[in-house]
Amino acid sequence: MTDLTAVVHDAGEVVTASGPTDPDIHEDAAVAVVDGRVAAVGPTDAVTREYPPANAATAIDADGRAVVPGFVDSHTHALFAGDRADEFAAKLRGKTYQEILAEGGGILRTVRAVRDASDETLLDNLLGELDVMLAHGTTTVEVKSGYGLDRETELRMLDVIARADDAHLVDVVPTFMGAHAVPDGRDVDDYVTAVVEEQLPAVADQGIAEFCDVFCEEDVFTVEQSRRVLEAGRDHGLTPKVHAEEFTRLGGAQLAADLGAASADHLLHATDADAAALADAAVTPVLLPGTAFSLGADYADPDVFADAGAPPAIATDCNPNCYSQSMGFAVALGCSGMGMAPAEAMLAATRRGAAALNRDDGTGTLTEGAPADLLVLDAPSHVHVPYNVGVNVVDAVLKRGSLVHR
Ligand code: NIG
Ligand code: FE
Repeated sequence: MTDLTAVVHDAGEVVTASGPTDPDIHEDAAVAVVDGRVAAVGPTDAVTREYPPANAATAIDADGRAVVPGFVDSHTHALFAGDRADEFAAKLRGKTYQEILAEGGGILRTVRAVRDASDETLLDNLLGELDVMLAHGTTTVEVKSGYGLDRETELRMLDVIARADDAHLVDVVPTFMGAHAVPDGRDVDDYVTAVVEEQLPAVADQGIAEFCDVFCEEDVFTVEQSRRVLEAGRDHGLTPKVHAEEFTRLGGAQLAADLGAASADHLLHATDADAAALADAAVTPVLLPGTAFSLGADYADPDVFADAGAPPAIATDCNPNCYSQSMGFAVALGCSGMGMAPAEAMLAATRRGAAALNRDDGTGTLTEGAPADLLVLDAPSHVHVPYNVGVNVVDAVLKRGSLVHR
């Protein structure tokens, strides 16, 4: 028995994101969802003849508005405690991110707050962030640990991430990031050994994390230290990801290519050769324009990656330094800051985000058979996502074809 989950009809346009560089826009179209998966996209007449809205559990008259895939936010540190709004103000007065970190602020301050927070507080915090994300159209999000920096707290963070995934409608993808920073006063190599010998085996035993990420950066983890962590993670079944070339060009992108990572992220200082290496190794570049915006740094150039054959994803990097849950805002920065075309930025925020998370079941698309995670915009086209800047243009969110937010 099949079940007609939903029909969304009379859309002004439906963006299916059918290929990495093909938005595949259908005008005057409808989407039919059977058993939670996309069954058909096409002219409203044809689709509604085969799938009558009256027979669907959910029928939505889009009335000329646009339908797009749900956003896939492939890079966040959305589980944290405490508040760093004062650092935002200090940055506006000229203090740099690294100066704040060197004074024990930044990541290390959030680490202290997370260690002190109860599991219930952490879970409440993450569920709150997920509520905001869903309202802004995110239907799948990656969340990293990395504010524990000891075995007990890293395991607690991953457990909270798994509980949030169970409790919330947004799909949450868990990443272990014990190598996010070096704990206060700790020797770096000594800490890397702790990540490899104490944290990783326990994380693997707990069986929650899917990816392993490191902050490969000057004064944080060298390429060799990052390699140690990621190879050990891989031995435990975790797929590598790398924070690469954010403040300096250290070699994290080449490392990501070498290890066949799922993604290399940030890439503000990546070169043409780095982009070519990522393309050759089929590593998805993930650009985080909100972070450049928050840091007052120059944006990454998406064309460098696209021209090399590795069209980039974009994500929010939602964290206390770059506090935005909105993929719409990331898309707006992708266009107005980085020069992407609107359709390109939408692909970057949907199917390419799914690629950065190794999702190959159609997530981030509205192609036949894909999970029917889709947005009805309060606008006639996807262009309004970056164009109507600073405003949430998401009207309705369907997850697996069920209306979960309006
Ligand atoms: O991706 N670069 C390192 N980590 C985060 C920032 C985390 C924080 O400042 O709390 C990032 O930008
Ligand atoms: Fe990050």
